[in-house]
Amino acid sequence: MLSNPHPQTWITATQAMYLIGRFAPGKTILWHAGASSVSISGIQLSRGDNAAAVFATVRSDDKATFCKEQLGATGAFNTKKTDWVDEVLKATDGKGVDVIVDFIGPSAFASNLRAVAKDGTIVSLATLGGAVMTPEMEMPNMILFFAKRIRFEGSGLRSRDEEYQGKLRDQLVEHALPKFKDGCFKVFVEKVYPWEKIQEAHAQLESNQTKGKLICTIS
Ligand SMILES: NC(=O)c1ccc[n+]([C@@H]2O[C@H](COP(=O)([O-])OP(=O)(O)OC[C@H]3O[C@@H](n4cnc5c(N)ncnc54)[C@H](OP(=O)(O)O)[C@@H]3O)[C@@H](O)[C@H]2O)c1
Repeated sequence: MLSNPHPQTWITATQAMYLIGRFAPGKTILWHAGASSVSISGIQLSRGDNAAAVFATVRSDDKATFCKEQLGATGAFNTKKTDWVDEVLKATDGKGVDVIVDFIGPSAFASNLRAVAKDGTIVSLATLGGAVMTPEMEMPNMILFFAKRIRFEGSGLRSRDEEYQGKLRDQLVEHALPKFKDGCFKVFVEKVYPWEKIQEAHAQLESNQTKGKLICTIS
């Protein structure tokens, strides 16, 4: 089980980058929740395919260090301490990033509009910060939407037909398989639990302390 972890995070990241985000070598990309399992795959894929710069957001210094030192992100911004949009604009000479992969949802929407580059794409994969916009959240400046010609596209894996999933598998084989073989890409597993400790595993997941997947073994 450990030597063959579930490939969903890699497939999700591949889909977000290539099929939805239209990533190509030389582009810039930002992964929200940088130490989440999907972003751990995505940051490595982006670096492996020669992104001009790879950025991440996180909510702790520990995770920022992890994204930079272990995954090779160009910059990782602790959103509790810094204005990540300012940091991204500073690091890109005011241009912003070509692709943003977002798991946060409405609370990050306005910032994403400010941080994305002209003709950039925001890929929406989840709403970890809540699905509905509330009055406390920063209101989006929709002028940016058409002024920068932004694309905002959501995606999910489960609803896809076999043909789409096959295309995605081929993309993964092309972009990731050689780098798994030569050891360039790494799978991060935070902890392995016997399934009887599933409650402990859930508590750890809910603590947001994980960097990568938890595995429960059934023997
Ligand atoms: N659409 C799709 O096709 C698709 C496919 C797979 C997964 N997903 C979704 O993508 C998300 C990530 O999955 P995963 O397996 O990579 O998760 P994961 O490994 O469990 O990582 C989740 C991380 O997200 C961050 N986070 C949680 N709540 C947050 C919030 N309110 N604001 C900011 N950051 C928050 C936390 O890190 P910090 O400490 O840095 O905040 C947490 O450790 C999940 O919601 C999952 O359901 C979508």
